[in-house]
Amino acid sequence: GKLKMFVDDLPDMPRLHGFNSFHGILKPTSLQIGMFSTKWKFHRDLPATQVFAYGTSRSKATVPGPTIEAVYGVDTYITWRNHLPSSHILPWDPTISPATAKHGGIPTVVHLHGGIHEPASDGNADAWFTAGFKETGPKWTKTTLHYENMQQPGNMWYHDHAMGLTRINNLAGMVGAYVLRHHAVESPLRLPTGDEFDRPLIIFDRSFRKDGSIYMNATGNNPSIHPQWQPEYFGDVIIVNGKAWPRLNVRRRKYRFRIINASNARFFKFFFSNGLDFVVVGSDSAYLSKPVVTKWILLSPSEIADVIVDFSKSPSRTVVLANDAPYPYPGGDPVNKENSMVMKFILKTEPEDDTSIIPKKLIDYAAGDVSNAVLTRYISMYEYVSSSDEPTHLFVNGLPYDAPVTETPKIGTTEVWEVINLTEDNHPLHIHLGLFKVVEQTELLAAGLEEFKECMTKHNDAVKCKISKYARGRKTAVTAHERGWKNVFKMMPGHVTRILVRFSYIHTNASYPFDATQEPGYIYHCHILDHEDNMMMRPLKVIN
Ligand code: C2O
Ligand code: CU
Repeated sequence: GKLKMFVDDLPDMPRLHGFNSFHGILKPTSLQIGMFSTKWKFHRDLPATQVFAYGTSRSKATVPGPTIEAVYGVDTYITWRNHLPSSHILPWDPTISPATAKHGGIPTVVHLHGGIHEPASDGNADAWFTAGFKETGPKWTKTTLHYENMQQPGNMWYHDHAMGLTRINNLAGMVGAYVLRHHAVESPLRLPTGDEFDRPLIIFDRSFRKDGSIYMNATGNNPSIHPQWQPEYFGDVIIVNGKAWPRLNVRRRKYRFRIINASNARFFKFFFSNGLDFVVVGSDSAYLSKPVVTKWILLSPSEIADVIVDFSKSPSRTVVLANDAPYPYPGGDPVNKENSMVMKFILKTEPEDDTSIIPKKLIDYAAGDVSNAVLTRYISMYEYVSSSDEPTHLFVNGLPYDAPVTETPKIGTTEVWEVINLTEDNHPLHIHLGLFKVVEQTELLAAGLEEFKECMTKHNDAVKCKISKYARGRKTAVTAHERGWKNVFKMMPGHVTRILVRFSYIHTNASYPFDATQEPGYIYHCHILDHEDNMMMRPLKVIN
């Protein structure tokens, strides 16, 4: 039978301090976090599931992994250790150039998503390693990664990024939250604080078999080309902090939720069943300049919405966080009952004192001015199909991941990227290191579009193919709560999206305290994990 909704309590994942505190003085620390094969209970009535989970020990490993709490200006060093068995719990596909260890073992590498840190600590897809560092990928350099924590305060998350295995390593459970706090800057805002009122919500979809194991289709959509790969993974159970459709008892006051979409491919369009508002204070890894009130939040895979919800304004005693995004987004099936529900909040009856506030202003960062951009790059997204019209793979700029680097921005500069989406799906573009502002989205005119696509497929040269002649359709304004600095955004199909990418901090003009130009460099990619695994990813090399 179907799993009953709202019977498990929402967990708060264990919190790990990414700093040492000695008589009130904060010092750098070194953490050891392992990846373990273990069992995890996703639902009261579902047998425990075999997962791959992060934790400080096997018995403490959780899905999602522990929430890492870091502090501005205090370095966090993490040795990520692979304790996984020799074979995977999920089907994988040898034809999409995955990391493969000659002597067995599961390649893994951890990326801190949204982090601004040295290339060698960035979790390059080819910097993978197997259990005991027995085998390492071509870009692997060291066992202990260094997170400087010198960037603006906000939300990050860590997840696996191994070449061609990211979709199954994440599906198996290797995801977790990372919060960077800057006390002097944030405490005057008087937002809700403390573990009870300030919580990450890591949300993803999964399918399960009756025995509790994670179900993933083992047959590809083009089995003669890719025996296992499917263009998008969708699950029918919605999981929040490791529980299926959980519930949370809340007081009649404000809460802060750092909502992370950790799905492979599912977009969520969140709303409250009783019309309650979200007050958005941050997007991805940065605060907005002022709070934005909204009824709807559309989050693509890996986007983060940092919101305040005031339950004292709730007109009802219970409220469901719901979802209305078709899958795939935007042209796919409408949600069904299962995936239209996310979690339930049950309100206490008594009124509650609440000293937290929603301030008028949050934090102002570099304005982001297109006229200061040093150059314009055209980035195009392609999907290739088989004779049966089924997707076979995806490319950025018509190039596979391992073609020589073409994006080499100068450190400290700002660039305009015109991202041309020639596919029918919305692709969340994620850039490592850089932060960007979304300027506008312009529809490509239908008349002549086939001609333009044909030219692009042949030459991949937007200027030569006369992009300016076609990029004259309707403009979609950027939603108010998405106008801050972001590290991932939704590239609408058949549109050109103009973004302004900054290769320096946004909170100061100081240069990076590390050499960003070193090997193995950075990457940018679509954050639908099934796309990024099948080549929708390119290297990014910053230069002096
Ligand atoms: Cu969240 Cu390159 O990844
Ligand atoms: Cu994509």
